[in-house]
Amino acid sequence: MGIFIDEAKKLFTLQTNKSTYQMKIGKLGNLLHLYYGAKIANEDLSYLLFDGESHFAPYPHGTTNRTGSLDILPQEFPSCGTGDFRSLGFDVENSDGTHIADLKFKSYEFLKGKYKLESLPTFYATSDDTVESIKITLIDEISGVEVRLYYAVFEEKDIITRAVRVKNTGKEKVTINKLQSVVLDIPQGDFELLHFHGRWAMERQKEFLSIRHGMISFGSNYGVSGNRQNPGFIIMNSKTTENHGECYGFNLVYSGNFTATAEQASLGQTRITLGLGDSSFAWVLKQNEIFEAPEAVMTFSNQGLTKVSQNFHDLIRENLYKGEYVGKSRPVLINNWEATYFDFTGKKLISLAESAKEIGADLLVMDDGWFGNRNDDNRALGDWFVNEKKLGMPLSELSMKINGLGLKFGIWIEPEMISEDSDLYRSHPEWALKFPKRKPLLGRNQLVLDLSKKEVRDYIFKLLIDIFDSVNLEYVKWDMNRPISDWYSNGLASVNQGELQHRYILGLYDLMEKLTKRYPSVLFEGCASGGARFDLGMLAFQPQIWSSDNTDPINRLNIQQGTSYLYPISTMGSHVSISPNHQNGRTTPFDTRINVAMSGTFGYELDVEKLSDTEKKLAKRATEKYKKYQNLIFEGDYYRLETLSNLTAWQIVSKNRKKSLVTIVATELVGNPPFNYIRLHGLDADATYESNGKTYKGDSLMNAGIRLAQSQGDYPSEQIYLKRLN
Ligand code: DGJ
Repeated sequence: MGIFIDEAKKLFTLQTNKSTYQMKIGKLGNLLHLYYGAKIANEDLSYLLFDGESHFAPYPHGTTNRTGSLDILPQEFPSCGTGDFRSLGFDVENSDGTHIADLKFKSYEFLKGKYKLESLPTFYATSDDTVESIKITLIDEISGVEVRLYYAVFEEKDIITRAVRVKNTGKEKVTINKLQSVVLDIPQGDFELLHFHGRWAMERQKEFLSIRHGMISFGSNYGVSGNRQNPGFIIMNSKTTENHGECYGFNLVYSGNFTATAEQASLGQTRITLGLGDSSFAWVLKQNEIFEAPEAVMTFSNQGLTKVSQNFHDLIRENLYKGEYVGKSRPVLINNWEATYFDFTGKKLISLAESAKEIGADLLVMDDGWFGNRNDDNRALGDWFVNEKKLGMPLSELSMKINGLGLKFGIWIEPEMISEDSDLYRSHPEWALKFPKRKPLLGRNQLVLDLSKKEVRDYIFKLLIDIFDSVNLEYVKWDMNRPISDWYSNGLASVNQGELQHRYILGLYDLMEKLTKRYPSVLFEGCASGGARFDLGMLAFQPQIWSSDNTDPINRLNIQQGTSYLYPISTMGSHVSISPNHQNGRTTPFDTRINVAMSGTFGYELDVEKLSDTEKKLAKRATEKYKKYQNLIFEGDYYRLETLSNLTAWQIVSKNRKKSLVTIVATELVGNPPFNYIRLHGLDADATYESNGKTYKGDSLMNAGIRLAQSQGDYPSEQIYLKRLN
């Protein structure tokens, strides 16, 4: 049992194997938050609540005894107009222009298994999970605004998911201006925020910020979850490390704008919020209409950051994506982008496939440039017609020839976009998002299609399936190369324009749902200028995402390690490219590029024909090795290892602790280097492990560690494979 209700004490206690979450209906009917942390019994923790006088803070509606201010009490879903001045979960404008929702407990209901949302992707329970859900309904009796809070408890995985539905049961329409999926009040603590910021080609860089009096607010207004901030983040005690201490992880199953806040209030209380982006958001809800906010996910660990990451990894690997690639090995890709950019023909792709076959690749991806008049990135998006003249052959012939070589065939698309210089724009300029009477803002010389319109989605769907059906397609790379800026849809009334950001994402999910359902065995890989949309919403449809346009292995260390705090490495598109690197000009050894790319969905992004014979041999061996280890890499427990600052190292351990792969990369070399020991994790202490003919005891490897050789040369790296002997 994961959810316990004590009706007499008005208590809701959610129990996972290692954490407890408790809520209580307060004296006045407000839903208060009592606890989230290490597992404790179902004891009533309401003694923790402050019941003294609240100074310079109004007390609740209808009370006069100076206590119980909602500005001070920990709440589950704080809303506007109730005297809580901290960051709120809910802001609604009533028909009389007031912003108040005085939400009081109405009812609760157990739901069988895992709750679902109708319009948005959510995590699901497998037959191996013990999952229970509950719906708690709150209502403002005067306006009739009803808020339904959903919680699901994944017991074994130490995960709690949350979602919110708002129903207007009143007669007058209301407008939702803010709706957060997570509000978490913690009564005290000087927390650090670990968030992941970035930019194009340097995504998900980790940064620690101290949460002190005042508010840290971050999010995305880019129309996509974005490369500037990721919706996933962690809060931790300042002494928490990778393997010790308390921390909480949060993320959102959503691909559009989001808002997150981390606030320390006047009495030292910490409040965390996460949900839909609230900048320019305004959703009109008429009588009996329901609005759904995206699902959020939370986990707690008192064993450090690694455990938070591993909890997320297990859940994302097993409970999000529904397609055929769950638990299935993925093909090793050869992508022609960095090999040719726009300058290719069908013949060139075939010879690339031939040489890629020699190094063991499984699938050729034909990237951007195969359609319409697309010979550079200024035109033709929307004209999804094969450019047979450029290819020199029909697409079916090209794909058959690739298949004939023993390789699968995949294709690049950017279906959300439209170029001004395209036949589609010339015939349907009204399908692009742009403000009336103004010139649109261009990004990469392209505009964004209005996916809130069904006719637009239907049109694109039809064009794409015509192409997909004409070949034996086994992979699709779904790109998206500009943020969304001109938020105006000529399909919506002016009063509804504030809904467009979310309607766009609903349209995107609708299109992806239709395509992934129609092609269940096709592997879809997400991409948005690299990793500008690396989020759980996309991962519900696409099990892997091209992590970054930056393929330099040294920059990739931070990008991929940053990503690993929130997402499993089985989701990270990661390819070996040429040196000097195209993005930063750095020269790195071939095996370092290989070793880094192996911690992800492995592939090549280079012209194999230009590799030396030695490199070809190395590549062939690397592909074989990756195929041998893929299961371990995808399903094992992932550890970021603590090392000296000039090294990055990580370790993957199979769930049964029989196998482990350690990767170490030197990022800076110094003369007369200090000794360097790394301690491993997750092994069987009593077992003996073998690597390269040497044997080690598990407890020695984990406690004494191993001494690394003093490395020489530029950016050397090493991989150690350990196998349990007994
Ligand atoms: C951005 C992607 O990240 C690249 O890999 C490539 O597909 C280009 N777009 C193509 O335009």
